[in-house]
Amino acid sequence: MEDVAPKAETRILQHRHLLGLSTYSADEIQLILSTAREFREVLERPIKRVPTLLGTTIANLFFEPSTRTRISFELAAKRLSADLINFGGSGSSLSKGESLRDTVQNIEAMKVDMVVIRHSSPGAAHFLTRCIKARVINAGDGAHEHPTQALLDLLTISERYESFSGLRVSIIGDIAHSRVARSNIFALTTLGAEVTVCGPSTLMPLHTESLGVRVVHNLDEALHGCDVAIALRIQRERLGASLVPSMREYHATYGLNGRHMAMHPDMIVLHPGPVNRGVELDDEVADHERTAILDQVINGVAVRMAVIYLLAPGADE
Ligand code: CP
Repeated sequence: MEDVAPKAETRILQHRHLLGLSTYSADEIQLILSTAREFREVLERPIKRVPTLLGTTIANLFFEPSTRTRISFELAAKRLSADLINFGGSGSSLSKGESLRDTVQNIEAMKVDMVVIRHSSPGAAHFLTRCIKARVINAGDGAHEHPTQALLDLLTISERYESFSGLRVSIIGDIAHSRVARSNIFALTTLGAEVTVCGPSTLMPLHTESLGVRVVHNLDEALHGCDVAIALRIQRERLGASLVPSMREYHATYGLNGRHMAMHPDMIVLHPGPVNRGVELDDEVADHERTAILDQVINGVAVRMAVIYLLAPGADE
């Protein structure tokens, strides 16, 4: 991979960018998680800011809607004392026909060190690495990867379970359109978890087993012996009309409800958000004490601080 530069020191990442987790080693993932735990402690202080990245400038480029990811990258940069600019497609010169390449090269010319990008096109983050010298962090590219979401999921899981080795994790829902599922599959299998994916066959890509996961289509089978259930958002914006008969039927077949929580008293539930209540989760599950959604959100700030810190220019020197 062109963004890999081998280093002798184990406390540094082998990558210059975070484009996805398929090429990240177990050591690199664990380094991000341990660094995030240190920053998680900073977030509990009265003054939630460290001077670590004074002088570093980060551009947050979001060409798709986002609440959690955009705000937490912004907070992460500010907690590290970096300078941050937020940029969205609307209101910019993209509407006058300027290309993505020209846009990011002009932004970089203003001495930007790192770029965070969310885009609807798979590979958009990788494309930027060929246009600019700044470090690039993928905040979600189409149905390809959402690496920081998977990392914050892992951090949240690690607060409840000591080890990923042999941990049984079931990912439920729209696997075909889910960048969250792909990044979680790469990271969890790298760390030794046993991953099951579950969803309707219309939302299950062909050859999913080749990613090293078990594929089932029955929810009870997926939850049997499960330690962690990750419910995925039904992505109405990416779904073809005929892939799911109705949201009511999807909930009846793949939605998590209070009965599932009672039947699996040790299981925790994660959801990347935004939740479609009554579709992926009913209200009882969404608000359940074993559902870790708000822990995932705060861990998202810590994980993004860790990723920015470890990838910042100079971190590998
Ligand atoms: N989980 C997630 O990516 O949420 P947002 O789309 O709100 O950023």
